[in-house]
Amino acid sequence: EKGGFEHFMLKEIHEQPKAYRDTMRGRIDEAGKHVVLPELKLSCEQIKNIRNIQIIACGTAYHAGLVGRHAIEQLVRIPVENDVASEYRYRSPIVTPETLVIVVSQSGETADTLAALREAQRNGAHVLAITNVVGSSIARDADDVIVTLAGPEIAVASTKAYTSQLIAFYLFALYLAEVRGSQTPEVISQVIAAMQALPEQLESMLAKPEAIKAYAEQISKHEHLFFIGRGLDYAVVQEGSLKLKEISYIHSEAYAAGELKHGTLALIEDGIPVIALATQDAVLEKTVSNIKEVGARGADIMAITHEEHVTGLLKSVNQVFAIPKTLPLLTPALSVVPLQLLSYYASLARGNDVDKPRNLAKSVTVE
Ligand code: F6R
Repeated sequence: EKGGFEHFMLKEIHEQPKAYRDTMRGRIDEAGKHVVLPELKLSCEQIKNIRNIQIIACGTAYHAGLVGRHAIEQLVRIPVENDVASEYRYRSPIVTPETLVIVVSQSGETADTLAALREAQRNGAHVLAITNVVGSSIARDADDVIVTLAGPEIAVASTKAYTSQLIAFYLFALYLAEVRGSQTPEVISQVIAAMQALPEQLESMLAKPEAIKAYAEQISKHEHLFFIGRGLDYAVVQEGSLKLKEISYIHSEAYAAGELKHGTLALIEDGIPVIALATQDAVLEKTVSNIKEVGARGADIMAITHEEHVTGLLKSVNQVFAIPKTLPLLTPALSVVPLQLLSYYASLARGNDVDKPRNLAKSVTVE
């Protein structure tokens, strides 16, 4: 049932191109000009009246929401807040009838997320669920559902569910952008075309895991490491860091690259691995200066970037891994994959139970 793969996690990483295709299928018109979400009850009138959006989830789904926020704010210009579900209820969140709440949950059974959904509804919000399980408690209780079509996810560490959630967010943001007229038809079809290219780009990356595997074996000997990135890269390294902790048991922290010098830089010493995600061209120069800050303290730096920046970055880092080029907004759908593989191979190198990490359950039904 692992389809020839050694672990469910590796199988599920490789199922991501299919998960992208399945999640997009039937939701983009034939001309590639519009996103269609006939399953939504949310009316155009309601969409035009949305004043703010709150995205609530736990763990990896929370990290997908961080990317969702960028997509919605950039394409639709509606203010978005992200909340960890276990915190949401206890901060007296400000909800009005013009608030849209989006809950994200692979299993649809996470107790904290379900409780947050109910709290949001009690306060009068319309709740949209992005979930992978049609008949789940969260899908049943939500006012609207966008189903991700990742297929069953068995490994405790979430991979294809996360990336399918990204696709769902991109689709929903494009849909809102069209209804509210916040983007031109040209921009919308440009984003759609780039989304449609993602599965093949991902396949090309998955065909060459060797460099990441070798690097994973190298870091598997360390007890601490750091991830840095700015903007969307920061959102993605938070997921990379969680994945690594979860299955390799290596302690890591993900930092907004510009925040390091406000304290954490004190932990950087000779030989400590730092993984820099540098895919966002608009902030590349700034990230490079942060890379130099850690490099000057002796960090052993690996950068993930686009082909065109490899030569330039090699002046400041020890290793570079290139990923295919897409729109900056869509890059997380590609850039997270080397981080998933890194965690997988680091866990493997340490002899851990990759699919069933210690202390963790696939579905967390207690608050
Ligand atoms: C990490 C992981 C967890 C889940 C979290 C929420 O790999 O899988 O962090 O993302 O427990 O689960 P769902 O999405 O089922 O609500």
